[in-house]
Amino acid sequence: MSQREENRKKSGKKLRAVGAWVVVAIVLIVLVALFYPASESPVVIPKIVDVEEGAADRWYTAEQVAQGQELFVQHCAECHGKNAEATPDWRKTDATGNYPPPPLNGSAHAWHHSLSVLRETIRQGGVPLGGVMPGFADKLSAQETDAVIAWFQSLWPDELYQAWYRMERESQ
Ligand code: HEC
Repeated sequence: MSQREENRKKSGKKLRAVGAWVVVAIVLIVLVALFYPASESPVVIPKIVDVEEGAADRWYTAEQVAQGQELFVQHCAECHGKNAEATPDWRKTDATGNYPPPPLNGSAHAWHHSLSVLRETIRQGGVPLGGVMPGFADKLSAQETDAVIAWFQSLWPDELYQAWYRMERESQ
């Protein structure tokens, strides 16, 4: 056998060995993919948002979110819930014919409102529109109102926030 032939044989062997490992790897990957337990469905509403990470995409800062959370607990949580979750039954009027406080965590309607409408709602409350929410014009400064909005918006999942943001830009 010539040196060349021998070399060719050797490299052929090598190639077959590599091929065998590739097949083993593919089989393993397929097996893992088939039998790996499907991961739990993702949490729908993140409680604490890593604002730092998504900061570039959101209009507010981590400081505003932290300040807003404190203010929310102080002024809003008694009606809207500590995590702004309120009641899932927010579409139904109660015994007095009024709507209950809706969730502000992204699961209800708040994301349909532009920033200026959200600010006005909090400032004036619901009474001018036939609702029952008290206004906060005399309790919260404009800067504090924005912080509260920042906090409940930090609970909104990204897709929802982006839908809101597009609308917000168009409303300007
Ligand atoms: C006494 C209960 C009460 C308190 C306190 C309260 N809310 Fe409300 N809120 C309501 C109710 C009830 C509504 C539904 C509209 C209405 O009846 O005025 C509402 C509606 C809203 C809406 C409109 C949501 C939508 O989907 O249209 C926003 C935003 C809001 N509240 C924010 C706040 C913030 C921020 C605070 C604290 C600074 C606060 N609320 C405090 C009861 C309350």
